[in-house]
Amino acid sequence: MEQELIRRAVPPLLAWYRVCKRDLPWRHDRTPYTALVAELMLQQTRVEAVRERYVQFLDRFPTAQSLAAASEDEVLKLWEGLGYYSRARNLHRAAKAIAEHGFPATFEGVRALPGVGDYTAGAVCSIALGIPSPAVDGNVLRILSRLYADGRCVDEPSIRSEYAALLKEVYPAETADFCEALMELGAIVCLPNGAPSCEKCPWQTLCLAHQNGEEERYPVRAEKRARKIVEATVLVLRCKDRYAIEQRPEGGLLAKLWQFPFFEGAAPDYGAPLAEKRAKHVFTHVEWHMTGKLIEVDEELPAYIWATAQEIRARYALPSAFRAFAAWLK
Ligand code: ADE
Ligand code: SF4
Repeated sequence: MEQELIRRAVPPLLAWYRVCKRDLPWRHDRTPYTALVAELMLQQTRVEAVRERYVQFLDRFPTAQSLAAASEDEVLKLWEGLGYYSRARNLHRAAKAIAEHGFPATFEGVRALPGVGDYTAGAVCSIALGIPSPAVDGNVLRILSRLYADGRCVDEPSIRSEYAALLKEVYPAETADFCEALMELGAIVCLPNGAPSCEKCPWQTLCLAHQNGEEERYPVRAEKRARKIVEATVLVLRCKDRYAIEQRPEGGLLAKLWQFPFFEGAAPDYGAPLAEKRAKHVFTHVEWHMTGKLIEVDEELPAYIWATAQEIRARYALPSAFRAFAAWLK
């Protein structure tokens, strides 16, 4: 790809970012550890959903040492509702490594931390360590495919590395600003789903897609594979003021998080439900189509842990897949 275009695009992008960037909590008092927390939370989760949770998380775990000393259950509880819980487990493991050996000082060292891929390593190194290292996420794929009117499919892994190589050549000394400016342009100006706000864009006079009036033709994406649909029954079993919960298995979806008794297909018959409702939860590759039943039982079945609503809220990480049924807890 032609390098001159991206080279000319750097100065106006930096100038725009300094004036227009959002005030986000992870942009204050940054350390390598807080940058790592932010980037892991922001993987596949919207900025608005992360904002408050990031502040809560760092209130409780301000340093890698404090996080390393916590139990996994507590870390998962603080991650409740954010989804993709393997991120929390990896962050916990990364904190233990950092507490022991210090924060890595090289790209390779950061990349070797649990849960850290090329994107996260690039972002943390650029943002917190001053190491010029491209971080190509969905936002960056979108803005560069539009800047270049690149009609190739951005889901091809080679495109990501090509864009990374292109950026590496022009990385300015302001590594943090540049890295975040690229993401920011995709997040607030060069928007997905519908028309981008080209009238506000620092690349308006450079962008080839805009010159052709074809912004919405890019990025070209691969067709998504259909998700598998799983029918399930969720029982909210109540005995006096306690409810049955169980821990999900060690591997697989929502590993080791807590749930109400959950059955693929139909559930055993514990009596007529007091209430029933349907709820759906969409994961990356699977959809759960659930029927929830609230059932009063006479004794605490020993297969489950029994806890009050208050205990469940305080101590057990209950994924948002079950939120509709948790509304029955009193
Ligand atoms: N998305 C991923 N990383 C981000 C960051 N540092 N700022 C804003 N949005 C982001
Ligand atoms: Fe995106 Fe429009 Fe800017 Fe091009 S001019 S980068 S399409 S917002």
